[in-house]
Amino acid sequence: MCGIFAYLNYLTPKSRLEVLDLLVTGLKRLEYRGYDSTGVAIDSPDSKNIVMVKRTGKVKVLEDAILEHFSGGEYSEPVMTHIGIAHTRWATHGVPCERNSHPHRSDEGNGFVVVHNGIITNYNDVKTFLAKRGYEFESDTDTEVFAKLVHHLWKTHPTYSFRELVEQAILQVEGAFAIAVKSKHFPGECVASRRSSPLLVGIKTKTRLATDHIPILYGKDDKKLTSDQDPDSGKPQVLPRSDSTSEFMPLEEKEVEYFFASDASAVIEHTNRVIYLEDDDVAAVRDGTLSIHRLKKSLDDPHAREITTLKMEIQQIMKGNYDYFMQKEIFEQPDSVVNTMRGRVRFDGNAIVLGGIKDYIPEIKRCRRLMLIGCGTSYHSAVATRQLLEELTELPVMVELASDFLDRNTPIFRDDVCFFISQSGETADTLMALRYCKQRGALIVGITNTVGSSICRESHCGVHINAGPEIGVASTKAYTSQFISLVMFALVMSEDRLSLQQRRLEILQALSNLADQIREVLKLDSKVQELAKDLYQHKSLLIMGRGYNFATCLEGALKVKELTYMHSEGIMAGELKHGPLALVDGSMPVLMIVLRDPVYVKCMNALQQVTSRKGCPVIICEEGDEETKAFSSRHLEIPRTVDCLQGILTVIPMQLLSYHIAVLRGCDVDCPRNLAKSVTVE
Ligand code: M6R
Repeated sequence: MCGIFAYLNYLTPKSRLEVLDLLVTGLKRLEYRGYDSTGVAIDSPDSKNIVMVKRTGKVKVLEDAILEHFSGGEYSEPVMTHIGIAHTRWATHGVPCERNSHPHRSDEGNGFVVVHNGIITNYNDVKTFLAKRGYEFESDTDTEVFAKLVHHLWKTHPTYSFRELVEQAILQVEGAFAIAVKSKHFPGECVASRRSSPLLVGIKTKTRLATDHIPILYGKDDKKLTSDQDPDSGKPQVLPRSDSTSEFMPLEEKEVEYFFASDASAVIEHTNRVIYLEDDDVAAVRDGTLSIHRLKKSLDDPHAREITTLKMEIQQIMKGNYDYFMQKEIFEQPDSVVNTMRGRVRFDGNAIVLGGIKDYIPEIKRCRRLMLIGCGTSYHSAVATRQLLEELTELPVMVELASDFLDRNTPIFRDDVCFFISQSGETADTLMALRYCKQRGALIVGITNTVGSSICRESHCGVHINAGPEIGVASTKAYTSQFISLVMFALVMSEDRLSLQQRRLEILQALSNLADQIREVLKLDSKVQELAKDLYQHKSLLIMGRGYNFATCLEGALKVKELTYMHSEGIMAGELKHGPLALVDGSMPVLMIVLRDPVYVKCMNALQQVTSRKGCPVIICEEGDEETKAFSSRHLEIPRTVDCLQGILTVIPMQLLSYHIAVLRGCDVDCPRNLAKSVTVE
């Protein structure tokens, strides 16, 4: 849930002020991951100590504090080699405050300082272990134990290298982490590692790199070489030690800069050459040389980590002329939906190829059932497309919230095909559900927006939705692209079904018009803004619909809740009479989606039930549908499309509405309270 960023310049002169600027910019790019407190650590001017600045609040608060704190000329002197680490936090253990902000330190002398994303689940045990050895803790976080554990290992094993110390510490901790460690005892060195939380290394050199691969160095089998006495029992406590060789062929460059970051958006303005670390990789830089270590080699482990070239453009992570990333991302949808289909849908030949899953289609066709699993907005994209998948695949389709799915220990079989839908590709609940299904032999299909993410890498096959970076915490364009990806999958599955050809053609035709129709819907923006002015002071908003538009009700209500902190509920119109109708009166704000599709008559019944209780709903209806419009003075008209794609056009007014209400209520649109973009805790 947090963002970590570290910057190491080797033989590349930079003043500490320049380093701080880089760190703060890196944090700004990662701020969507958490924004309740921040911190940085750099070397003191004499390079003998580490200086930290931490603040509660957003990166801007830290930036101002840095300007104040580091104004002296000594910080403008260039240094040849330096390492700085930085963090933006989303609190899990301990309230947001300076004391709980990262970096966390090992001791009063700041011997080792650590930034961490994830949760160390056995931190209480480690804390007890360290407390017995005289360590005192100054924060409520799980992270602090890591800094102190490295320090303890350093004291007890003075011959260990920095990398070995971190490696040993990692062996003792359980849970999820991405960490970067800096030490005054190992100047100019940085060690970073990950397990279940994302981390990549960006590499910037003056000349093109001579290699595209960094060899992985494996330790021999763990040798229980060292022991540590328990102060109470006096019994030895064994700490395993890796025995990886130091004769290796790592990446050696004369002048080089390294960036360690939770995601690519923080490094793209510096370099497009990155290595995505895998679980339990330990990346260490020493004398400007990057090496990647693993303690043990298993049979299918590769020999090297590939340096990949990011396709991302710098403009994609900037706001441009928009006030907020969310606003920009809503308005990008005419393009993002086309990007999702690009190279996959051939409108002239009515053919669809999904390269990432094409070899698995025969196996998928033989499966017992399809399971679509995700959280939040990603789950809603599954709800939105379930009906079409049932129709075009003729298979049972189960739609599951990842957390609930795991709580139930849902039975999974070898002939199940499980789709994991996730914008970030890192959501812990979804990732845990994926691993659960994989262990039981199901085929795993990932639907993600983040190349190199954990879900991407752990799936057997998948579809990259190509929506481009989504930075606003509220998901918008990722939703419509997930929706289209699942529609394309349904079309692929029905390619050879003669009886379904007419239906497929109708959908393909509608897909080809979609971008223009989204542009039409976006023209409603000022009308939606007016509507927001009527609604923003209310306490609640009910959103009703059914059939293909029920998912829009759920997604619209989620957007309203997360952005505006207003209560909102998505209600299946068929359920109205079974309870929710009691909420309706002349003052309750209601929005109803009533489109000309097979459930139109039923939606009209619901509309009448609402208006006859003095409800005066805002209606989303089709352009020129006078009969429906007659039921209310407030309506938003959207272009007609095929029933199964209506949900794309109806969700956009909901995205705009939640955005405008949030602005009117003075809420932070891109960073709503208590949320983070990537939820890497269960
Ligand atoms: O990255 P994911 O798609 O796996 O994230 C799942 C949810 O956390 C996410 O969709 C969340 O609901 C959004 N903030 C909603 O706008």
